[in-house]
Amino acid sequence: MAPPIPGRSARPQWWSRAVFYQVYPRSFADSNGDGVGDLDGITERLDHLSDLGVQALWLNPVMVSPMADHGYDVSDPRDIDPLFGDLAALDRLLAAAHSRGIRVTMDLVPNHVSSAHPWFVAALADPTRRDRFIFRDGGGPDGSEPPNNWVSIFGGPAWTRVPDGQWYLHLFDAAQPDLNWEHPEVFDDIEKTLRFWLDRGVDGFRIDVAHGMAKPATLPDMDLTENELLRNKADDPRFDNDAVHDIHRFIRTVLDDYPDAVTVGEIWVHGNEQFAKYLRPDELHLGFNFHLVQTDYDAAGIRAAIDNSLDAAALAGAAPTWTLSNHDVPREVSRYGNGAAGLRRARAMALVKLALPGTVFIYNGAELGLPNVELPDDVLQDPVWERSGRAERGRDGCRVPLPWSGSAPPFGFSSTPDTWLPIPADWKALTVEAQRDDPDSTLTLYRRAIALRTGRAEFAGDTVEWLGDSTFRRPGGLVCAFNAGAVPVTLPAGEVLLTSGPLKDGLLPPDTAAWLVSA
Ligand code: NOJ
Repeated sequence: MAPPIPGRSARPQWWSRAVFYQVYPRSFADSNGDGVGDLDGITERLDHLSDLGVQALWLNPVMVSPMADHGYDVSDPRDIDPLFGDLAALDRLLAAAHSRGIRVTMDLVPNHVSSAHPWFVAALADPTRRDRFIFRDGGGPDGSEPPNNWVSIFGGPAWTRVPDGQWYLHLFDAAQPDLNWEHPEVFDDIEKTLRFWLDRGVDGFRIDVAHGMAKPATLPDMDLTENELLRNKADDPRFDNDAVHDIHRFIRTVLDDYPDAVTVGEIWVHGNEQFAKYLRPDELHLGFNFHLVQTDYDAAGIRAAIDNSLDAAALAGAAPTWTLSNHDVPREVSRYGNGAAGLRRARAMALVKLALPGTVFIYNGAELGLPNVELPDDVLQDPVWERSGRAERGRDGCRVPLPWSGSAPPFGFSSTPDTWLPIPADWKALTVEAQRDDPDSTLTLYRRAIALRTGRAEFAGDTVEWLGDSTFRRPGGLVCAFNAGAVPVTLPAGEVLLTSGPLKDGLLPPDTAAWLVSA
């Protein structure tokens, strides 16, 4: 066994093996009939999550926001947006979840705030009050050019000019001005925010753009080639600047006052060494690893993604994390080819993911096998659509409300058919109601898999031993085999615990995974 990393607790923490369920609150369940999901909707539907067997929730932002980026533009970080309810509704959710043994983590958005945040309103009104943001004079003879060539992740320039001629930096939408993390008040404020929610009983935070925040003092130009959404090249000056680690160390000093609370960072950086730095013993507890999200249904690619993620976490002595989708990427059923084949592969990958050591994240709706939705232009809401000059359709297709019951939209999601994004009329067979008692449904598969993962000793151990290109074994004895080829293959020896689809004459068919235990 590897020697303990200095400073890292020897006691396994609850999160290091937990199954998290990501709730996109707009899309989970609507309790008040306005067509948008809310906190009471989540509370009312907690039975679904208890039945699924998850141990923790991650809620996308529910703080006060004008919703230019659906909550990632926060104008008051210490209150709930009325669209989602109020603080009392959060308290109800916390109490109900905790009574079921489910922890609740929230999103923290430290890189930027909303342009409606009082600090930014004050900065616009008074040029002497701009130092909590990144304002600069423009380039060119008359200052009419942006201060540098940085582009926004959502498309277009990362700078917007204000009426008096200065420019401010926003790595995302113009309604999301970046904070200046060299200002002490920014640190003080994040501490207040962390303690506000932790004192209320929140169990931790997913930290948005955890590789952002710190900017190089000279703001040098970036290389504009190969500039992909939320990926990072080693030399991209917008992200992964060393000073970001001081911010994480600061956040950790606060978290350490709440020993059961967890932080998980959204970290898009170049290379495992850079990734591991965020997981040093005095920084984040967990980091999202996106290798599986970026991999096709391909044996070599899946194996490389798993090995790479395990290596990255091992470098820091942290638990690895696994995710197949979230609110920013197309759903896995569609990424793997849509239709019956896409669903079969998504189910197989669910077993692969849930067989791995560490922390697993399930994006709401994955347990129902939902596909991405091709939405008409006139309903698109993601700022990416407009900022890219309507070249990129954005992320709305993976954010369509969940179908709960019945045979027509809104499928029990809301009392109004006028939901914030339309739900496809043909989702009847995908509802929770339709799948709950069906032994072959995707929901049943997830429920069984999570119960086995949580309850069986064969899932013990932190490592993975490859027995072939697409078969691995956990130290406790669990074997997971998946078939990404074109013909059925022989199963490894052992008793079959679960398969993602029917076996064929005792063989593992293409697009199928199996869990086995050896005698
Ligand atoms: C990453 C979040 O996951 C995404 O949804 C958001 O748009 C950006 N950060 C900006 O906050």
